[in-house]
Amino acid sequence: MPNGATPQTDREGLQGSPRHVAIIMDGNGRWAAARGLPRAEGHRRGVEALRKVVRAAHELGISYLTIFSFSAENWSRPASEIGDLFGLLRRFIRHDLAALHADGVRVRVIGEREGLESDICALLTEAEDLTRNNTRLTLVVAFNYGSRQEIAAAAQRLAREVAEGKRDPSSITADVLGSYLDAPDIPDPDLIIRTSGEQRLSNFLMWQAAYSELVFVPIHWPDFDKAALEDAIAEYATRERRFGGLIAKTGS
Ligand code: IPE
Ligand code: IPE
Ligand code: MG
Repeated sequence: MPNGATPQTDREGLQGSPRHVAIIMDGNGRWAAARGLPRAEGHRRGVEALRKVVRAAHELGISYLTIFSFSAENWSRPASEIGDLFGLLRRFIRHDLAALHADGVRVRVIGEREGLESDICALLTEAEDLTRNNTRLTLVVAFNYGSRQEIAAAAQRLAREVAEGKRDPSSITADVLGSYLDAPDIPDPDLIIRTSGEQRLSNFLMWQAAYSELVFVPIHWPDFDKAALEDAIAEYATRERRFGGLIAKTGS
């Protein structure tokens, strides 16, 4: 597999390493159920998998790793499970932030902060502030995130500018709208991986995924590891990304 931290297309149109990998970490509950364990144990093991995958990502030269950790629609789960998931996020930031910082990881958070408990907001802000200047890997945590909500919020801000006479509607291009999303400085994901065998986006990065390669893997998130990430990247490397254009054939 070709190396390199930036996406490259060779003359056959095949890919180098993805610069930005986004993961829908799914299947914690089914992993636990298959073992007769409570769903909370699946989530706990999911955090262990996440630690390993973050380490693997920088070993594999990935520059941006986005993880879907709580969706805007996950509020429809039982309160006890929501409590477990929020507890794990708190523990992850409290226990792992120093190590992430020492490893040169920059943490960014996307999603709606309003309505979250204030201690969670404070932890998210602390993680972003502490790691702001790190450059080895950017870990984008999608928390209380929904792509439709993100796009609607961008549309609201633009509409307000129009209403205030600060913007002409004809200036609202795709690039402008994209620049009003939660993390406009982060490049679009090259590769989106979903574990657990489900084949859908579930309201994740729908704008940014316009030309992402999608790889669905049958294993549940707690079992996902560096080898599985390497396999997904190998699958990505076989894809031809055309972005609507044509691939230049060798010798033609
Ligand atoms: C992913 O695992 C974690 C979150 C969605 C927060 P699930 O909890 O969705 O596990 P399954 O899909 O029910 O197995
Ligand atoms: C998507 O998984 C959300 C996260 C991984 C955080 P879900 O398990 O919530 O998605 P659906 O409900 O199966 O589509
Ligand atoms: Mg699920």
